[in-house]
This record gives sequence, C-alpha cells and structure tokens, in this order.
Amino acid sequence: MHEAWGVDIRQPEFSSAIGKVTIADIRDPAAMLQACKGADAVIHTAAQVSVQRSTEDPAFDVETNVLGTVRTLKAAKDAGVSKFVFISSAAVYGNPHYIPVDEDHPVAPLSIYGSSKLSAEHFVQAFGSSYGLRWAIIRPFNFYSPRADPKSPYSGVITKFTQNANAGLPLRVEGDGSQTRDFLHAADVARLVRLTMEAENSGMVLNGGSGQATSILDLAEVIKKVCPSEVRVEHIAPRTADIKNSVAKVDRAKEMVGFSTRISLEEGLKAFFRT
Ligand SMILES: NC(=O)c1ccc[n+]([C@@H]2O[C@H](COP(=O)([O-])OP(=O)(O)OC[C@H]3O[C@@H](n4cnc5c(N)ncnc54)[C@H](O)[C@@H]3O)[C@@H](O)[C@H]2O)c1
Repeated sequence: MHEAWGVDIRQPEFSSAIGKVTIADIRDPAAMLQACKGADAVIHTAAQVSVQRSTEDPAFDVETNVLGTVRTLKAAKDAGVSKFVFISSAAVYGNPHYIPVDEDHPVAPLSIYGSSKLSAEHFVQAFGSSYGLRWAIIRPFNFYSPRADPKSPYSGVITKFTQNANAGLPLRVEGDGSQTRDFLHAADVARLVRLTMEAENSGMVLNGGSGQATSILDLAEVIKKVCPSEVRVEHIAPRTADIKNSVAKVDRAKEMVGFSTRISLEEGLKAFFRT
C-alpha cells in the first residue's frame, strides 16, 4: 500500500480519501518542491478544468494548466521522483475522426482547455527527453464519482443528473440525447492510475475510459432504474459545437498495465442514491 498525500489550491469539498492535503498552488515553485520532497511518484491532476472558463480567460488556463504543469514537473525532477503521471484529457483529440478513439488518433483540440492540456503533455514528454524524468500520460474521457463537487458549475452530466434525480427535478437532456460518452467510475480511475504509476516503463500514453459508449438517454434510463424515486426527463436545446460521439479504445491500457473496467455504470450509479 502506498502512502499518498495531496496538494490543492483550496480545501476539497469532501474529506480526502488519500490522507493529508496541503493547500498550495501548483504555480508556486517552492511550494511544489516542498510537496514533492520524499515522494516516489507524482500524479499530477490539478487543473483549470472548465472549457467555458478557458474560453473566457485563455491566459489563466495557460497559467494553471501549462505553467502549473511545468512548475510541477520541475519540482518533481528536482526532488528526484521516479515517475510523473500526468492526467491530461480526451479533449486533446478534438472532434473524433473515428470511434473508438485510440491513442494514435490525431490530436487537434477544439478548445483552449484542450490546447493547454496538449501543450502540457508536450512538456511532460520534454522533461523525459531533457532530464530523464520517467513519465506516463492518461487521457480521461468522462470520469464520475459520488464525491465530485455537485456545486461546481462544471460538474459532469452524471453529477448533474443524479443531483436532480435526488432533488426530484427532471434530468435535462441536451438535444435528443443520442450523443454518446464513455464513463469510468472513480474507483476504476484510481486503479488505472495506480497500475500506470507502478508500471516499469516510461513514455506511455493511455486512454482513461471504459471502452463502452453510453448515450445520454441510456444514462437517464439507468438513473431511472437505480433511483428509488420517480425520475422525469426533459429535453432542452442542444449545446452548440458539442461532440456527438466520444468513446475510448482501451486495448492499450489492458495490454500495457493490465487494466480493465470492474464497475459497471449501473453498479457505479447505485452509490449516488444510498442514504
Ligand atoms: N472528470 C473528468 O471526466 C475529466 C475528464 C478529462 C480530464 N480530466 C482531468 O482530470 C483532472 C481532475 O479533474 P476533476 O474532474 O477531478 O476536476 P476538479 O476540478 O475536481 O479537480 C481539479 C483540482 O485542481 C485544483 N486546482 C486548480 N488550480 C490549482 C492550482 N493552481 N494549484 C493547485 N490546485 C489547483 C482544483 O482546486 C481542483 O480540486 C484534471 O486535470 C482534469 O483536467 C477530468
């Protein structure tokens, strides 16, 4: 079992599952060096995660996601950690040319957020070639967790749907709901990250997904099934420039680190409705 500690710019909404969390800014070199000292590995998840905010304030996105990553890389290198795992995003792929999307799919981010994540990926790789820092990159599709912050305006569709279902409000499906996403439960995410961190090799880029395409209407159906009270669905205007279908090819994670999904969507969603 690994001892783990975290760094976040603000107090997390939920008490940490991993133990101690220090309040620090990833853009602060001294704080990051302090945080990395004594660590075997760094798993870099902190980010400005909102596509909307990245559009409103591109420079802030770059400061957090690019400069913050460079500062974290530098601190990890200076502290002599043995591996750096960067949590990137499937947003680096942009609009899929084919599905399922494999890791060799062309990268062409549509958003500032996706661009900052791709830029950060390049710095991760350059720290490998320039300083010999061992690294891995995970590109998450849609992760979900009952511990995700429901107050965040950037909460994913599962957080929004389950919050509405619990409050007796309708699930608001954008457009006809035929758009698909690839959902992976936080416990599976944690296992993928651990396996990636523990793998001997350096230089892997892995999709973080289940390999299962779920339409938003199918998601609403599963929520109807597992929610103890009645659930209503209403359709609202489609999001402009929304990606229609998104699903990961996950063979590489299976081959390279032995990862496959354990928690089905139905099973994962049940925890949102326990009292
Ligand atoms: N949840 C998903 O489906 C998904 C999909 C693609 C990529 N990702 C990536 O996974 C990671 C985690 O995302 P999440 O969904 O848990 O979002 P989140 O907003 O819950 O987590 C990001 C954390 O980073 C922290 N942070 C932001 N700026 C910081 C700074 N300057 N210094 C220190 N901490 C800072 C935030 O306070 C927050 O706790 C992010 O890198 C995100 O880009 C997530």
